[in-house]
Amino acid sequence: MKKILFAASEVHPLIKTGGLADVAGSLPRALMELSQEIRVILPNYQSINKTEEVRFICSVRVNNQDVNILETQLPDSDVIVWLVDCPELFDVPGNPYLDESGNPWHNIADRFTLFCRIIVEVAMNRAHLNWQPDVVHCNDWQTGLVPSLLSIESNTPSTVFTIHNMAYQGVFPESTFYDLNLPRELWHPSGVEFHQMLSFLKSGLSYADRITTVSPTYALEIQTPEFGCGLEGVLSHKHEILSGIINGLDLEQWNPETDTSISEPYNADTLSSKIINKTSLQARSSLPVNKSVPVFGLISRLVDQKGIDLVIDCLDEMVNMSLQFILLGSGDKSVEQKLMNFARLYPKKISITIGYDEALAHQIEAGVDIFLMPSRFEPCGLNQMYSQRYGTIPIVRETGGLADTIKDALPKSINNNTATGISFKASNSGALLEAIKRAMLLYNDKKTWKKIQITAMEKDFSWKNSAEQYLALYQEI
Ligand code: ADP
Ligand code: GLC
Repeated sequence: MKKILFAASEVHPLIKTGGLADVAGSLPRALMELSQEIRVILPNYQSINKTEEVRFICSVRVNNQDVNILETQLPDSDVIVWLVDCPELFDVPGNPYLDESGNPWHNIADRFTLFCRIIVEVAMNRAHLNWQPDVVHCNDWQTGLVPSLLSIESNTPSTVFTIHNMAYQGVFPESTFYDLNLPRELWHPSGVEFHQMLSFLKSGLSYADRITTVSPTYALEIQTPEFGCGLEGVLSHKHEILSGIINGLDLEQWNPETDTSISEPYNADTLSSKIINKTSLQARSSLPVNKSVPVFGLISRLVDQKGIDLVIDCLDEMVNMSLQFILLGSGDKSVEQKLMNFARLYPKKISITIGYDEALAHQIEAGVDIFLMPSRFEPCGLNQMYSQRYGTIPIVRETGGLADTIKDALPKSINNNTATGISFKASNSGALLEAIKRAMLLYNDKKTWKKIQITAMEKDFSWKNSAEQYLALYQEI
């Protein structure tokens, strides 16, 4: 049995901006099911959704600052969660990364340095918790200082650093390094220094005992200049301790048979009930209610990574085709504007919701026929897996986790019952449009379509296999 301290900046259902929260909310549960002792640690943001009891457990002093640690649980589980309570930094409106006006926190380096320092105190059993982990599992740049700060201690736990996205690195000017009062010995090119800047991500990669990322394909891609975001050299140098482990899903939360957010539950045997979700989604989206028209869906952060510009480029043609399109997302303001304009011009074809809405995300997964995910890069991606589970056929670009979780519907894969989606290679709108047309043709072949839906719905997306791979890694170090 291993004692694992699992550190992340967002954990569903306490706080979520993207897939990291889904993983941090479900992998610890899966590890607990494998009889491991696990504690999750995250900052006590103002916007945390607290449904369980929260109690004060201790106070820790770091860098001349007193910080409280509160204890709660992941809802419907025995997984203990520790909240790092520093009101000055975290009891403020906004999300983990952006302030109330949508700008990156001016003090974001202070916020996550404090978080890392507390993780280190807990890891070293200096926080009066009487608990010392064997492994600290860090996730993304917000926890990147943990492995380097532990490197200057002795008798430390081992560290695993998981990359969920190379595009976010936590890079700051050299002066920030001194302002943060970080140990001087960490400032060197195989430490936290990245082109004379402080890089939290590089700090994690430089000092962790094992590096993982969230799909085998992305683990290879990030060793190349196209996907490595400047750190491909470090990663290929460390390829022996780098591996890719695909994310699993919270199968209770994303289950069309028991989903309380959708109009009508269904499973692979009662697939015909999916149509009820389609018509109620059309009605809710103020689109004409029409059972036979193919409905395309998209749920995403509206950022460059997700290839939304390719979708926007396709919309001019899509509005002349017999289809509907329903999108839920938020992010880049100019992208939001362009999408809203299309919805205004074509209210009978396009429905755009700008914002974050979990219930609607479930309704879209259940109600649409085809899901668009034309990402430029995608470390793992969760919506293509949610889609498959809901019998919604994803169209994806063949990259990262999308390449690892979708089998393109070609004559051979259709015949041998392995096809679960449609994928395309080139990152341009022509290739996406071709995939959309291919999906429309397949959609009209009802028998084949149903076969693909059932293969997709029956695929195993549970955490068990991946959690076992993490456990093997913890045991190895
Ligand atoms: P990423 O983490 O890069 O955003 P993922 O596919 O891993 O991409 O995970 C995104 C998660 O966030 C999914 O659970 C998705 O349903 C959810 N999500 C994204 N945007 C929204 C939104 N506007 N409203 C509700 N859920 C959203
Ligand atoms: C990141 C990636 C996404 C991945 C998620 C969870 O946000 O962009 O591909 O699924 O992390 O690992």
